Amino acid sequence: MSGSKINVAKQAVDFLENKLSEKMIIGIGTGTTVNFFIEQLKTLKHRFDGAVSSSDRSSAILQDAGIKVYELNGVNEIAYYVDGADEVSKDYSLIKGGGGAHTREKIVASASEHFICIVDKSKIVNDLGAFPLPIEVIPESRSLVSRKILSLGGMPTYRQGFTTDQGNQIIDVTGLDLHNSLDMEYKINGIAGVVDNGIFAINKPKTVLISE
Ligand code: A5P
Repeated sequence: MSGSKINVAKQAVDFLENKLSEKMIIGIGTGTTVNFFIEQLKTLKHRFDGAVSSSDRSSAILQDAGIKVYELNGVNEIAYYVDGADEVSKDYSLIKGGGGAHTREKIVASASEHFICIVDKSKIVNDLGAFPLPIEVIPESRSLVSRKILSLGGMPTYRQGFTTDQGNQIIDVTGLDLHNSLDMEYKINGIAGVVDNGIFAINKPKTVLISE
């Protein structure tokens, strides 16, 4: 498995290598695949300006690699956003958030010109939803959101002992019908107390790189 993740991380570096420029900012996702990507990107760190990160974990790894980390509020343009996913459908809709970082991942993806998703082929699915859908919630709304999710046909499980970088909680949901993922992304985000859910149908990747 880690061999596949290293391979797709290399594919992403090859894809970007001749597109880098001195003032370029790159958005960086979160997860084990992205960690391999950062490791590879380190060798090219003098060929672009720096990165905007989607999590405290990735920020620490970027800083260790000697890559400058900017706040999103401090930059105007992010040329590319590179991130993994938990599931990728044929139309490039995603489920993300297995690491609980999907809210900031979605923000950085939406701020970027070109989202490059990097996955090994085990993440490619016909239908989204076998992987439990993560929903970040304001802690005091957790039970309310769970009841609303039950009424949508989903089965919520509280991710115990986990707090997001924003100080919130995660509910992982199975059983929802995600055939219209765009509609479900909006519907869940319309529930009071939801910060964001892990469906990426509004902010789909432009490029998906896949390794064996
Ligand atoms: C982080 O919250 C997630 O969205 C990750 O992008 C996703 O879980 C992929 O992680 P791996 O690269 O570790 O499989």
